[in-house]
Amino acid sequence: MPASIQQDERSAGIPLLQRSRRHILWAPMRLLEKDHRDVLPRLRRFKSILLRWQRGGALRAPSEAREVCLFVPPLIAKTVPHFRTEEKIVFPYLKRHAPRLTTRLERIQAEHPALLRELAKLRKAALIFARKSASKAAVKRVSRQGLFLARGLHAHIQKEERLMRRFRAI
Ligand SMILES: [Fe+2]
Ligand SMILES: [Fe+2]
Repeated sequence: MPASIQQDERSAGIPLLQRSRRHILWAPMRLLEKDHRDVLPRLRRFKSILLRWQRGGALRAPSEAREVCLFVPPLIAKTVPHFRTEEKIVFPYLKRHAPRLTTRLERIQAEHPALLRELAKLRKAALIFARKSASKAAVKRVSRQGLFLARGLHAHIQKEERLMRRFRAI
């Protein structure tokens, strides 16, 4: 190893490779974490509206109906590239540098196709609801599908956040 690098390592007290590795990964990881932070409060709000609808309370204030319809397209637009970044950049990197996390990462990644299928079902349910918001069946369907997706996505994000905390601790 060149003397200048050795000197740099000693002066920083942290191995150079470890520092540069973290530096390289920080940007995509921060991006993912920012996406998580952005989506979680919106998911909570979405769930609270749908839970109320499902329990038959204060059914379909027009503003809430609009909110539910408008929630789905941007969620899909964000989730697809988010999953792709995880699968193509962040997860392979984590696997290479923390092989002991491989099984957990693969389990988490395996949830992506199912979540995308549930999102597609929710989009369909929201479109029907947008056309027939007075229909009890449409309300029931969008509530059930929305809650199922929101719970699944919430749990998925929590698993990823735990994993990234573990990686940082390594
Ligand atoms: Fe994910
Ligand atoms: Fe994620």
